[in-house]
Amino acid sequence: MPVLDHWHPVLFSREVRRKPAGVTLDGHGIAVFRTAAGDLGAVADACPHRRLKLSVGEVVGDRLRCQYHGWTFDACGNGESPGSPKLHACTTSFDVREEHGLIWVRSRVSRTAFPDVTMPGYLPICTLRHTIPAPLELAVDNFNEIEHSGTVHQTFGYDLDRMHEVRVRFEPTDTTVRVVNSGPTKRLNPLFQRLLGVRPGDTFHDDWTTHFSPVYSVFDHWWTSPDGTREAMVRWRLYIFFVPVDEKTTQVVSITYAKSRYPGPAGGLRLVRRLLRREVDREVRSDVGMLHHLADYDSGIDGLKLSRFDKVLGLTRDRIRSVYRGTPPRAALRVV
Ligand code: FES
Ligand SMILES: [Fe+2]
Repeated sequence: MPVLDHWHPVLFSREVRRKPAGVTLDGHGIAVFRTAAGDLGAVADACPHRRLKLSVGEVVGDRLRCQYHGWTFDACGNGESPGSPKLHACTTSFDVREEHGLIWVRSRVSRTAFPDVTMPGYLPICTLRHTIPAPLELAVDNFNEIEHSGTVHQTFGYDLDRMHEVRVRFEPTDTTVRVVNSGPTKRLNPLFQRLLGVRPGDTFHDDWTTHFSPVYSVFDHWWTSPDGTREAMVRWRLYIFFVPVDEKTTQVVSITYAKSRYPGPAGGLRLVRRLLRREVDREVRSDVGMLHHLADYDSGIDGLKLSRFDKVLGLTRDRIRSVYRGTPPRAALRVV
């Protein structure tokens, strides 16, 4: 299960207290529980006895007890049966970490690195989760091209009428894809224009790198005057994790930071944190709403009429295949 070899944020910390929680990651059910001492455990969400979901069980001390016949499992998956004490029953267990208010899981045998989502000098704004009714590739496509920002978005993006002026640069490596864009900003609503210090006709800059273990994009957004000599007051940094639930559903977990040049503690951003959170939520919901209306959810790109903004689709697909899913690149498949 190579996909599960990567760390994925599957739950908010607050979603696992006394009761266990069940999640699906790439089609695999996982029961996450917190022991009486507060430590986290994660095991396959199917009891090896008769397959009841362990996530509907309860925690007793440091063990998760199945609701059906009372077998119990520790965080390493070691099972005990009250009715057959000599029986050896083991279930699959997962590595678990709790970071940034999220619970992350990874398969036990894996040694993949934990993604660094710290951002010194920036204020944490919010951590959000949205569900997209599309396979991972189509969710990544949406967040990795900016042509749609002219129509779908209100704050982060480019003026549709001047989209042809937007410059796009791609910098792929074997394990990452960087996309650098700049061009005439959209016209922001007056409140945000003021708050962010953006003027009509300013240049919006959008610079992101997508990584593939797990699949996540790191976005920087900022604005300058067209000649680049004046920068607006607020910069954004967003980490967007793409978490495949199954072949048809992807969860998008976003961790947002911002930095301001206004005077005062955290540049005054604490005062408007709720407003910024609402804006990020609204912008991501706009993407989600759009993806409800795709004519089909085939993740292939052959036969599509792709624009100059869409070169990234092929670059990300190749790395999703090779780095994330651990399958050979397309060219190698053809040779075979
Ligand atoms: S199904 Fe879990 S103990 Fe029987
Ligand atoms: Fe978008």
